[in-house]
Amino acid sequence: MVNKSFSKIIILISGSGSNLQSIIDNSDNIGVNIQSVISNKADAFGLKRAKNAGIATKVIERKQFATDKDFDYALIRYINTLNPDLIVLAGFMHILTTKFINTFAGQILNIHPALLPKYKGLNTHQRAIDAGDSKAGASVHFVTNELDSGEIILQRSVPIDLDDNAATLAKKVLEQEHILYLEAIQKVLQR
Ligand code: GRF
Repeated sequence: MVNKSFSKIIILISGSGSNLQSIIDNSDNIGVNIQSVISNKADAFGLKRAKNAGIATKVIERKQFATDKDFDYALIRYINTLNPDLIVLAGFMHILTTKFINTFAGQILNIHPALLPKYKGLNTHQRAIDAGDSKAGASVHFVTNELDSGEIILQRSVPIDLDDNAATLAKKVLEQEHILYLEAIQKVLQR
């Protein structure tokens, strides 16, 4: 039975969904009820994770629509039927329209694999190594109309070792992401 004091969240994914899995595994502890997992890729492994946990899934693919606007309107319509407290982007590889972001202003969280404001966008781990940084990490932030630039809620960092490459660093950061997202969701829900 769903505890009525739990907050309602939906999670948007495109791929593996390891962050999704961490939230599924800890949902009771952090007081969230995952209403639905939405993927913009029909073959995203995260959909299997959701189904295994008995969570509703929905595939909404960009190719079903003529424009980004039409795609985002379909997302908005579906999300409005659920009326979640929070929209959690977890490896969701699509840049949302202004309309989407304004509709759910202050309710959309994203996890980014860098210590923002450094390394917005892609290839964050290689860029941190190339720059000679001594540490890397991940950030959870509110989503605004400027890419990876909304208010930072929390960050976790890891050291960059001399023998790290982009793959080893990504693995270390991802382990921290799984803890970070739980902490950040709790922090936002306690506001
Ligand atoms: C993570 O590195 C996250 O920071 C980025 O996409 C990746 C998603 O991984 N936005 P997963 O699908 O949660 O395993």
